Amino acid sequence: MSKRSMTKEDVSGRRVLCRVDFNVPISGDRIEDDTRIRAALPTIRWLIEHDARLILCSHLGRPKGQVREDLRLAPVAARLSELIAQPVTAMPEPTGPSVTLAVDDLVPGSILLLENLRFDPREEANDPGFARELAALADLYVNDAFGAAHRAHASTQGVALLLPSSIGFLMQREISTLTRLLNQPERPFGAIIGGAKVSDKIGVIEHLLPRIDQLLIGGGMANTFLLAQGKRLGGSLVETDKLEQARHILVEAERTGTTVQLPSDVVVASSIEVAQGTVTTVDDIDAEDAVFDIGPTTAARYAGILASLRTVFWNGPLGVSERAAFAQGTSTVAAAVAATTTFTVIGGGDSVAAVEKLGLAAKIDHISTGGGASLEFLEGRSLPGIAVIPDDTGASDA
Ligand code: 3PG
Repeated sequence: MSKRSMTKEDVSGRRVLCRVDFNVPISGDRIEDDTRIRAALPTIRWLIEHDARLILCSHLGRPKGQVREDLRLAPVAARLSELIAQPVTAMPEPTGPSVTLAVDDLVPGSILLLENLRFDPREEANDPGFARELAALADLYVNDAFGAAHRAHASTQGVALLLPSSIGFLMQREISTLTRLLNQPERPFGAIIGGAKVSDKIGVIEHLLPRIDQLLIGGGMANTFLLAQGKRLGGSLVETDKLEQARHILVEAERTGTTVQLPSDVVVASSIEVAQGTVTTVDDIDAEDAVFDIGPTTAARYAGILASLRTVFWNGPLGVSERAAFAQGTSTVAAAVAATTTFTVIGGGDSVAAVEKLGLAAKIDHISTGGGASLEFLEGRSLPGIAVIPDDTGASDA
C-alpha cells in the first residue's frame, strides 16, 4: 500500500489543512509529554519550508462535543512554537468566522492551529457539514495523524473526500514500519503481548500468529492463559468468559508453529497497595493472593528469547507497571528489547512509558505514536483515515 505523499503536491502559497494527533498528556498549561508534537515536526517543517499556508488541526482528550477549558489547544500551540522557533496562532474555535478571517490573513510559511476539533459534536459524528466547513478553509488536505487514523471522524475521513488528499511523513513512516512487520518481518519474529485483558489483544494475536515464531505473554492477560492450562490463580484478574479464546489461541499457535511463552513464576500480593510483592511459581499461588507481575525467572527467560530474535513487536506492560512493586518484569523486558540489535517496534502507551522511564526510547527502532491505531493496523483492519487517502495511482480504498 503506497499512499499519496504530500511531497507530490505543489503546496507553495496554498492553504494546507494538516490533521495531526496532538492528543498529548497535559496538566494546566504544562505538556507532560510532547512526543506526539515532536513526531509531527518533519511534516510541519516540510510544509512551511515549501511556503504552505499551514492550518493544523487536532483533537485533545474526549470533551464529547463540549468546550472544556482544560482541553484547549493553546498550550500545545505554545509548545509547538518553541519547538519550531516561530509563532503558532491558536484559534479560539475549530471553525467559524474568526478562523475564516485568520486563514484569509495567513501568509505563506506561517501556521495556525485550530481549536480542539472535538469541542464540536459534529467532528466525531463525521458530519458532512462540519467536513465541508473544514474543507472550505483549505486547498489541500494532509493527514499526519496516525494515532487517530482508526477513527472515522470529519477531520480524519470526511474532509479527505472533499479535498485533494495526501499523507505526511509520520503517517508514511508508521504505515511502512507496521506493514514491514506484517509482510516482511525478518525471522525469527517475536511478539511480547501484555496488558490487563485478553479481550483487547485477541485480534492482534490471531493476526500475528502465522507471522511470528515466539509469542511472549505477560500482564493480567497471562492469567487467563494460565487458567486455561489448569493453574489456580487465587484472587487474580481472570476473564473466565475468554477461556475458550485463550485455548483457541494455544491450539492455533501449535498449528502455526509458534511457541507460546507463559510465566513460570509471578509476583503475588494480597493487595495491589502493598510496598512489595512475593515471588512464587505459578503452581503455588495462594487462594488469597493475586498475580501483579511476571517473576524474575520468567523475565530472564523472556530476555534470553528476545536476544535470539531478528524482529520484535511489543505491546502492553508485563505487570502493573505504574506501581513500583510490580514494575520489575516490564523494566527487565524493556531493557532486553532496547539491548537487542534486532528490529524493534513498540506500540501502546504503557510499554512506551516503560522504555521512556528507563531512558531507553532512543534504542528502539520505531515507537508508534498510535496505541489503538497500531493495534488495529496489526489486526489487519482497514483504518478509515488511511483508506480514504488515494494511493499513488489516484485510487482510494474508502
Ligand atoms: C490516542 O490517544 O490513541 C489517539 O489520539 C486517539 O484518541 P481517542 O482514542 O480518544 O480517539
